[in-house]
Amino acid sequence: MKKWSLYHLIITVLSLPLISAVGVGGWELSIPTTTATRSSSNLRVREGSPFKIAIFADLHFGEDTWTDWGPRQDVNSVNVMSTVLDSETPDFVVYLGDVVTADNIAIQNASLFWDKAISPTRDRGIPWSTLFGNHDDASFVWPLDWFSSSGIPPVCCPASDDGCAFRGTTRLELIQEEMKSSNGLSHSMIGPKELWPSVSNYVLLVESSDHSKPPVALLYFLDSGGGSYPEVISNAQVEWFKTKSNRLNPDLRIPELIFWHIPSKAYKKVAPRLWIIKPCVGSINKEKVAAQEAENGMMKVLENRSSVKAVFVGHNHGLDWCCPYKNKLWLCFARHTGYGGYGNWPRGSRILEITEMPFRIKSWIRMEDGSVHSAVNLTYD
Ligand SMILES: *[C@@H]1O[C@H](CO)[C@@H](O)[C@H](O)[C@H]1NC(C)=O
Ligand SMILES: *[C@@H]1O[C@H](CO)[C@@H](O)[C@H](O)[C@H]1NC(C)=O
Ligand SMILES: *[C@@H]1O[C@H](CO)[C@@H](O)[C@H](O)[C@H]1NC(C)=O
Repeated sequence: MKKWSLYHLIITVLSLPLISAVGVGGWELSIPTTTATRSSSNLRVREGSPFKIAIFADLHFGEDTWTDWGPRQDVNSVNVMSTVLDSETPDFVVYLGDVVTADNIAIQNASLFWDKAISPTRDRGIPWSTLFGNHDDASFVWPLDWFSSSGIPPVCCPASDDGCAFRGTTRLELIQEEMKSSNGLSHSMIGPKELWPSVSNYVLLVESSDHSKPPVALLYFLDSGGGSYPEVISNAQVEWFKTKSNRLNPDLRIPELIFWHIPSKAYKKVAPRLWIIKPCVGSINKEKVAAQEAENGMMKVLENRSSVKAVFVGHNHGLDWCCPYKNKLWLCFARHTGYGGYGNWPRGSRILEITEMPFRIKSWIRMEDGSVHSAVNLTYD
């Protein structure tokens, strides 16, 4: 990692004004046919090794900071991430939403907590990207007990124009702040403006270690809403995905992986009834799927693309399975990584390992205690 991080930093610094200028208007990834067209936003497989991704889901940083309990949970979450990063040494990390619990953050600037959540990855020089969940920009909810007879709690609102009205930190502010302090390691992007307030809509290309070979995979990130707007993938996002994927991968030759936060309704259709039995693979099935509010055609588009191998979501802390969908692609939950948020199921991280030539995706769950379970092949032969 060290070796190319300087290169990375220079490229990022040089192209920063470019990225922010075109990123907002709709950043276009160009599939590199020659080395000259390579973009700094692309990822690359290291020669002789598979490309490994760790997914950190539902960290929920920043809860209950006015108690001892809250800050302790954040320390615990940093420990989970550190353990996973040190035992798996992934090439890339995906923060799968609900990085912070904004509705429980009693200060103006949630970026402080966002930054803490990113720090174990950044400190190790590992590149990452983030997408938004339903808690990341939700507005602050005053705890009822703050209005008890003892009066207003001993919480100091930082001096600000809004006084104590906790406007919260917007999706745009969170992502801009993340990019600013990322040492060039953040691959997060601000999606096309016409999709706002849905912000984390973008694509990353994983290139082969061999420059003459075609790209290994396309990673699509979508903002499934929640917080400041409804929990859906909108028609506009579906159209964006169609256009984007047809342009980047018209002949469906490049395998595609999809990441968003809130499960689509299709997850309900494949959910195991009680026990997780084959062909599903996983270890906890403790909740009902809490799906998006509507299905606007995204799944139809995905199942129609033979290049789409799997979708990864978080949101349900008590589910960690993968199930096949119509024998075409896999629908997977990540694994609750954070000590914040509801539920006390042991924490862990879903790991993806992508191999090129032939293309394969393996996945498993790495737990905080070091154990590994739920290994599954996510490619059909
Ligand atoms: C919010 O916190 C971050 C540190 O994580 C800091 O860089 C930024 O300037 C702060 N923003 C405001 C508006 O205070
Ligand atoms: C499915 O794919 C076919 C051929 O690629 C295309 O003509 C059709 O419009 C697609 N349907 C949907 C729902 O995307
Ligand atoms: C995955 O597939 C490989 C062969 O490609 C096989 O060796 C391995 O046992 C499979 N793993 C699981 C968990 O099915």
